[in-house]
Amino acid sequence: MKLDKRKVVIVGAGMVGMSYAYSLLNQSVCDELVLIDVNKTRAEGEAMDLNHGLAFAGASMRIYAGNYDDCRDADIVAIAAGVAQKPGETRLDLLKRNTEVFRSIIEPVTASGFNGIFLVATNPVDIMTRITCALSGFNPRRVLGSGTALDTARLRYLVGEYLKVDPRNIHAYVMGEHGDSEFVPWSQALLATKPILELGKEIGPEFSQRLEDIEDEVRTAAYKIIEAKKATYYGIGMALTRITKAILGDEHSVLTVSAMLRGDYGQRDVFTGVPCIINQDGIQKVLPLSLTDEEMEKFARSCETLRESFEGIF
Ligand code: LAC
Repeated sequence: MKLDKRKVVIVGAGMVGMSYAYSLLNQSVCDELVLIDVNKTRAEGEAMDLNHGLAFAGASMRIYAGNYDDCRDADIVAIAAGVAQKPGETRLDLLKRNTEVFRSIIEPVTASGFNGIFLVATNPVDIMTRITCALSGFNPRRVLGSGTALDTARLRYLVGEYLKVDPRNIHAYVMGEHGDSEFVPWSQALLATKPILELGKEIGPEFSQRLEDIEDEVRTAAYKIIEAKKATYYGIGMALTRITKAILGDEHSVLTVSAMLRGDYGQRDVFTGVPCIINQDGIQKVLPLSLTDEEMEKFARSCETLRESFEGIF
């Protein structure tokens, strides 16, 4: 895909879609941004509100409320439409309702002649990404979900806080379902180039319990935020922006997006959060980490949870 005018379409002008849009504008990530929503008036209002900030932005951007025909020459169509979790609801609980929403979206996007990359944010994101791939018929490398990119950022923030180190020097990942069965392969986690597990000797016996607590804080973060403010949107909006930058910038960066596994980690017929090399063509490669047997079992359980949920709905 040759990148000239960098064009992104966001389907769903709700809090997640608009946090993503606001983040794209403030980070000057694209040249053209189209907002599509069932409530056209809302999309028009959101576009107007963002345009009024252009004078303060780092670069120009053409922002407008559009329709599915505007997807034809887009580089990325991001889908943030659907119902969000209510307090106490799991992401898998949303599956039936959001599958119906996606049936009404994917067809008109592909009918427009869109030939770019789908970026899915709607939960349960791993399954919604697989549904997008199934409904669109696109090469799975061009259909990715936000996956555990936000969870990985949460992990790095919490470990950085604990070790009093810049999170950008924490190289650790959350893998599997973006949900209750996600896990951290601690055997692969590094502080700079030092295995984090080796820090236990210096820090003391409480270290492994603290890592366990951090993993749990990551896994339950969304529930806590939803309890407090009804929904999460800034973190996911910035995660979507980070993935978009990797695509539009042809970065070849490693991000834990929801990707289709084709034998990776011994798994098939599932989309889930794994470290991938992301470039202008989408997922260039799924990175094979050397997981321990225990970590492979956790990953297999997470994949099975997702396969069962998909088979139950599609
Ligand atoms: C969260 C939503 C995006 O984890 O699932 O905040």
